[in-house]
Amino acid sequence: STSLAAVRAVLARRADEPGALLPILHEVQDQLGCIPADAVPEIAGALNLSRAEVHGVITYYHHFRGEPAGRHVIQVCRAEACQALGAEALLTHAERRLVCRSHASSSDGRYTLEPVFCLGLCASSPAIVIDERLHARISPAAFDRLIGALEN
Ligand code: FES
Repeated sequence: STSLAAVRAVLARRADEPGALLPILHEVQDQLGCIPADAVPEIAGALNLSRAEVHGVITYYHHFRGEPAGRHVIQVCRAEACQALGAEALLTHAERRLVCRSHASSSDGRYTLEPVFCLGLCASSPAIVIDERLHARISPAAFDRLIGALEN
């Protein structure tokens, strides 16, 4: 497939570099929007690693996805300061509003919802990011307004 061809091209260029796994994963995701499942054995084979090792690294770093992201990526901070001000309830609210589980995309491909740890806005909790833009002090009502604006 075209995506496997892209993975092989990245491997051909980088597989011999020391510590190549992470840079390879980044480059594959930049090009394809995700690390497709059939890329894992290719990468493992080229780097002389087991599939489980490659899979472990992909799941350890939340940055990497197994499927392309939805059109809008919504990140909700779950670190301490935000938790103290209702981040868990906000995340539950977001799951319902977006019809999307955490760490997943909605079935219509519209949203991806990602819990994250500290966005550096702890003094203005709870904080979220929508498509790379930070928003502070987000109540469920404010969340709905922001999402409503995306849908208009
Ligand atoms: Fe949420 Fe720092 S704890 S922004």
